Amino acid sequence: MTTAQATLSAPRPVLDVAEGMATSDGAGVSLIRLIGTQRLRMLDPFLMLDFFGSDDPGAYIAGFPEHPHRGFETVTYMLAGRMRHADNRGHSGVIETGGVQWMTAGRGILHSEMPEQTEGLMHGFQLWINLPARLKMCEPAYQEFPAPTIPVETRDGGVTVKVIAGRTAAGTSGPIRAEATDARYVDVVLPPGAAFAEPVPEDHNAVVVVYEGSADVAGTPVTALSAAVLGGAGDHAALTAGPGGARVLLLSGRPIGEPVAWGGPVVMNTREEVLQAYDDFRAGRF
Ligand code: CO
Repeated sequence: MTTAQATLSAPRPVLDVAEGMATSDGAGVSLIRLIGTQRLRMLDPFLMLDFFGSDDPGAYIAGFPEHPHRGFETVTYMLAGRMRHADNRGHSGVIETGGVQWMTAGRGILHSEMPEQTEGLMHGFQLWINLPARLKMCEPAYQEFPAPTIPVETRDGGVTVKVIAGRTAAGTSGPIRAEATDARYVDVVLPPGAAFAEPVPEDHNAVVVVYEGSADVAGTPVTALSAAVLGGAGDHAALTAGPGGARVLLLSGRPIGEPVAWGGPVVMNTREEVLQAYDDFRAGRF
């Protein structure tokens, strides 16, 4: 029940609140895109954040048939439902409810991501995290953790904090290693009126994503499904749940600060590198 409140000074202010935008991707999966929209192009090192949440199989059943990735990481976090993945290197499995898959695509992977269910609720997030130039062509790698292996911290007021990546002020460490950007990823559940505060490193970009209920984030009201981008001043994220409670993600990471050349599922530093990636993909070099 330890909190670091005593050592925190000012909360980071909210710079901008971007409402998610309805879209579809893959073979026709309905999504709410929170980062990677016209409204919020990216938040270095985060390129994209998609939320999927439907109990209508028509919204998800087509899934994401085989497609390539190069130059970044994809993080799939299932809140409900099951997703089967398989790649061209023989790696496959199912991400179960509450589990996370952190895939470093690096120099290239071809994979499919398909619902392992034909009915019921499918609910979760996919986050894309950029890689710096020195790691874009690294060997692909996976970090996969089922729900029971991801620690959940309980705080005052019935707040729970599931720690996927990073270490909280109370000392809970998530299982993911994200050295490239020091990315931190926590999923927080707040009862009505409950408060949550957590330090954010000074050199990190940070965002609070409200995905259920509503919250007051450093004095700014934020409703689901919206992303509240935090400013650089202040040393922590602070929020209070609205009358219906709230579920939020707090994401932060060290910005990479390099040019971004984005070609669909390929994110490199230059257009030439993107074109090279497409050549490599067509020639079967992924
Ligand atoms: Co993919």
